[in-house]
Parts: sequence; C-alpha cells; structure tokens
Amino acid sequence: MMLKAEGVSKRFGGVEALRDVGIELRSGEVAALVGDNGAGKSTLVGILSGAIRPDRGRIWCNGREVHFHSPIDARHAGVETVYQTLALANHLDVAANLFLGREKYLLRLGPFSILNRAAMRREARELVARTGVRIPDIDLSVMNMSGGQRQGVAIARAAGWGSRVVLLDEPTAALGVQETARVLDIIKALKRQGITILMISHNLRQVFGLVDSIWVLRHGQMVGSRDVRATRPEEIVSMITGVDQATGDEFA
Ligand SMILES: Nc1ncnc2c1ncn2[C@@H]1O[C@H](COP(=O)(O)OP(=O)(O)OP(=O)(O)O)[C@@H](O)[C@H]1O
Ligand SMILES: [Mg+2]
Repeated sequence: MMLKAEGVSKRFGGVEALRDVGIELRSGEVAALVGDNGAGKSTLVGILSGAIRPDRGRIWCNGREVHFHSPIDARHAGVETVYQTLALANHLDVAANLFLGREKYLLRLGPFSILNRAAMRREARELVARTGVRIPDIDLSVMNMSGGQRQGVAIARAAGWGSRVVLLDEPTAALGVQETARVLDIIKALKRQGITILMISHNLRQVFGLVDSIWVLRHGQMVGSRDVRATRPEEIVSMITGVDQATGDEFA
C-alpha cells in the first residue's frame, strides 16, 4: 500500500469528526473520497496530509509507519496536498508560488540572500509543461488568473516535487465546465505518471469517469469502499445517505 491509515479518530470539542476510520491506497491508484457535507472528508485528508493531528490512529506511507506533525513532514514522505481553500500567494507570480517554501538561492548568508530567479523560472516552466497545466504566462501574478488556472498551479505544485501521493480536496468545486475538464485532464496526467491520488468530490459522475475506487464516509465513519467497476452510482448514493435507494428504507 502506498498510503494506509487505521483507527483514525478526531474530535473537535463536542463534534466527533472521525471515528475509527481506515483507508488504503495502492500505488498508482486514483481513489475518490465521498460523503455528505460534514461527513469528515476534509478532516481525514487534513490528517493524512499532516495538517491536522489525529486523537488516535496510525498511518503508513509506502509500508513505513509515519507520524506527521506538519504538512512539511508529509511532504518529506512524498505526500502533497491541494486544500479545499487554495493556499496560493495571490500577489506572487506562478514561479514564486511553485517554489513557495522551497526557494532557490544564489547566495544565502543570513539576511543577505539572493534568490536564484532564473533557475526557479526555468524549473517552473518545466514543471508546468510536465503536469499539462496551461498557463498563458508564468510571470503573471496568481491574482490575475482564472479559478482553473489557479487550481492548475496548486496541483502542479503538489505534483511537481517527486511526490508519490497527491491529496486533492474538491479540486473542481469552484470551477466552470471547461476549467473542470482541464483540471481533470491534469489529474489523468498525474495518474499516467504513476502518482497515487486521493480526491474528495461531491460529483459522482465525475468520480465514476476518473477513479479506480471510491471510499465513502458517513457521519465520521468509513462506510466502506468499492471498486468503481463493481458498483453503480445508486449504491454509492445509498452508502452516502444511509438510505436504500430502491426501497427508501433507512439502514443503520
Ligand atoms: N477546526 C474545526 N473545529 C471545529 N469543528 C470542526 C473543525 N473542522 C471540522 N469540524 C467539524 O467536523 C465535522 C467534519 O468536517 P469536515 O470539514 O471534515 O467535513 P467534510 O466532509 O469535508 O464536509 P464538506 O463536504 O462540507 O467539505 C463537521 O461537523 C465540522 O463542523
Ligand atoms: Mg470538506
């Protein structure tokens, strides 16, 4: 397994966001994480990405148990995340955003440091080309880009540093039809590169056209997972809602 979690629980005050949750992602697999609003999806992705500390639970990355104290720890283990609220620096250009926290220096002597802008721009260009992100101008500040382009920069950044796992929290939620298609193409390109992907989505049609497996959270518990070829949207909707779509009966 490329990424595995077991027995993950998390409380926020009186809210039990996750209870005894497990998940497994095979190497190179694209998986979806689905569930209603408040089901715990972002919390689980936050825990897998090191942004949120679980109360309980264990995580393994490529067979080794890991203890992430921050997203930087996760990044060192090859796990990158694109959050629901994009963390881009609006006033900076594409290259600067791609290198945020990983700046290259010509000279670094305490306060006297000189950024190696030429090297960063060259590598940024390569990275953007490799991930299939279409950006008109790499010198454009992110503020002046469309939602799809910004999402593209965020995904390129997540995918670009030899990462093995990319976690995406609703990458297309705020996008139009064309921009969504473009972001889905980027995700397919990452899959072809063998990157393991876990994507939160509310759009089952999108999920069924893209992923290998689907994991369903309901009220903070993992209801189960399905191979996409062995299930139907109706079954996934039943798992999400806890209501049998055929009979309308609620199950426990
Ligand atoms: N920082 C926090 N403080 C308090 N409660 C939180 C916090 N983060 C999440 N929660 C609560 O935990 C539960 C799960 O939230 P989470 O954001 O994981 O849901 P989600 O499945 O991502 O929902 P959505 O589809 O709306 O994004 C919710 O009841 C939410 O209100
Ligand atoms: Mg969420």
